[in-house]
Amino acid sequence: MNRKELTYQTVEERIELLLDSTTDWIAALSTVVCELHHSFDHFHWTGFYRTRPENLLHVGPYQGEHGCLQIAFEKGVCGMAASTKRTQIVPDVDAFDGHIACSSLTRSEIVVPLILQNGSVVAVLDVDSHHPDAFDAIDQRGLESICALLTRLYDTGKTL
Ligand code: SME
Repeated sequence: MNRKELTYQTVEERIELLLDSTTDWIAALSTVVCELHHSFDHFHWTGFYRTRPENLLHVGPYQGEHGCLQIAFEKGVCGMAASTKRTQIVPDVDAFDGHIACSSLTRSEIVVPLILQNGSVVAVLDVDSHHPDAFDAIDQRGLESICALLTRLYDTGKTL
C-alpha cells in the first residue's frame, strides 16, 4: 500500500468514526469535505453538488474558493458524472468540452456520483486540483469508497 492509499484508508476510518454520531445529512457532507480537503495536498477545491428537482445540481458543503451555485445535469464534469452515474477523471480541464471553471487555477478534476440503492444520484463529490493530471485510480477508489459510506447512511435513513 503506498502513501496515498494509506491516507485514504486513514481518512475513511476517521470519517466513519466522526459520522457515527450524526443523523444530519448536511453535517455528514460537511465533515467529509473537511476531512478530505485537509488530508491531501492536491485537493484545492473539495465539495458536493446535490441533486435537486428539474435535473439541477445545487452546491452543498465545500472547501476552497467560491464554487458556482448550480449546474444543469447536462453541463460540466459534474453534470457528466451525475447523468452517466460514472466517476469522471479529467487530467486536463482545458481539454474537457464544456468544463465549468469556478477557478482559473483549476488544471484537473475528479467527480464521483453518489448513487443510492434505487439507482438515483443524490449528489456528486467534486475535487479540483491546481496540478495537471492530479487524480488517478487510487483517488477514484478512495473517494468512491467514502461516497459509498455516505450513500449507506442515506439509504438506511440514518441521516436526513
Ligand atoms: N468544474 C465543475 C464545476 C464545479 S467548480 O469546479 C467547483 C464542472 O465542470 O462541472
